[in-house]
Amino acid sequence: MVLMDRKQFLWGGATAAYQCEGAWNEDGKGLGEWDVFSHESPLNINGATGDVSCDFYHRYQEDLDLAAEGGHNTFRFSISWSRILPSGTGEINQGGVDFYNRVIDYCLSKGLEPNVTLFHYDLPDVLARKGGFANREVIDAFVEYAEVCFRAFGDRVKLWVTINEPRYYAYCSNMVGNYPPNHELDFDRYFKVVYNEAVASSRAVALYRSLGLDGKIGIVIDNCNVEIAPGTKDPQGIRLKAELFYDRLMLDTQLRGELPGALIPFLRENGIDDSFVLFEDALSFEQGTSDFLGLNCYNRMYLTDYSEGPTEVFHNNKGAGSKKKEGIRIKDWFETTDDPTTKRNLWGREIYPRCMYNALMGIKERYGDIPVYITENGHGCYEQADESGYVEDDDRIEMMQGYIDNMFEAMKDGCNVRGYYAWSSMDLYSWVNGYEKRYGLVRVDFAEGADLKRIPKKSYYWFKSLIRDYLAGSEHPGHNY
Ligand code: BG6
Repeated sequence: MVLMDRKQFLWGGATAAYQCEGAWNEDGKGLGEWDVFSHESPLNINGATGDVSCDFYHRYQEDLDLAAEGGHNTFRFSISWSRILPSGTGEINQGGVDFYNRVIDYCLSKGLEPNVTLFHYDLPDVLARKGGFANREVIDAFVEYAEVCFRAFGDRVKLWVTINEPRYYAYCSNMVGNYPPNHELDFDRYFKVVYNEAVASSRAVALYRSLGLDGKIGIVIDNCNVEIAPGTKDPQGIRLKAELFYDRLMLDTQLRGELPGALIPFLRENGIDDSFVLFEDALSFEQGTSDFLGLNCYNRMYLTDYSEGPTEVFHNNKGAGSKKKEGIRIKDWFETTDDPTTKRNLWGREIYPRCMYNALMGIKERYGDIPVYITENGHGCYEQADESGYVEDDDRIEMMQGYIDNMFEAMKDGCNVRGYYAWSSMDLYSWVNGYEKRYGLVRVDFAEGADLKRIPKKSYYWFKSLIRDYLAGSEHPGHNY
């Protein structure tokens, strides 16, 4: 089925620093923007923080043991910028470096290839106060931070990601307004932040290569494959606008080394500030193309025309407490629409396994044979454990099996997929959604007095059997569980 040697394929789970580490103020760590937001902002609607979370900082060995016992051969995690550089730049915090050395060394001792992301939404507070990625100074700060990490860990880390979901981060922070700094429908800031992240990523990639390190480095994007609903009046026009809005700025710069030619005319036609585009960045893009693409695959953008009515964004961080469906309406561009044949999760996001196949084929069509890792895929839901703490998460298994089957189909059709990471390794802090929206293959008991006990769920055992089937040459891994 798959052309590459099956033993080379990476199977694992994914996490992110702020979502699992806890230890928010230990061993010299500086403040991050999420520390401040979760402690102080009235917009932190569920009141949860990542102060302790699942305490990966102290329990990483237990989590990595479970990953290895679950048949994984890789582990995806991110580094907390403010643990390494508490002031964003300048002095290095040895306590932070020591922690990641411990994690990396333990991964290697367990046969888990570390897949390390430099930036997963958690900007040091000092830099957030300067405007975050809307301020070009932060690009230099990011490159400085990247260099510290490459020099400290590059001898053992061979898979690097510059930024996780730069577009989604910019979208939540500047369009939805549910992530700090909570701007709403600010198109100028949205495009500027995505653009500056693209420059930062390219410069970090070029720097990595100049250091002569022998690993691979890439970017992780959220799955923004655009699908146009039947009956739409101007499908081609909508597709172009949507791709410029959702993914081409990042994909073209990171994979082709250039800005999409249609971007500047599009911004100007729509009265969006384009002064952030600097001539000198063309060289950074050219010199900093990614070795691979990481794809976080959850849903698609299912779109149709929209010309009457206001521009509005919809997001649901209350789960069952709200009937809102995730989406956006942009006057004279498009709106996200409903497909009556698909289900949604309780947070109003579409569950659509076919988007895995379509996204991978779309990448192949547009960007050729670039190696792709599915760096996240999973299912968020409320969960009930039995008396022993065991969770029978059949919905998650069914949903992930559907996405993985579609991944295999795309591989059969020639897509160069190199690995798959379940989001998430264990239950963790789900940003503004707090702790009730669970994704883990392993349950973490957050109840008071439960001591954050880890209990593998049914999906953990299913995933283990899927990996075993795959290695044994099965054509339908996971289906016999
Ligand atoms: C991805 C992020 O967008 O989706 C993760 O990289 C995130 O950090 C995951 O947790 C699920 O999203 P949410 O909002 O349900 O936690």
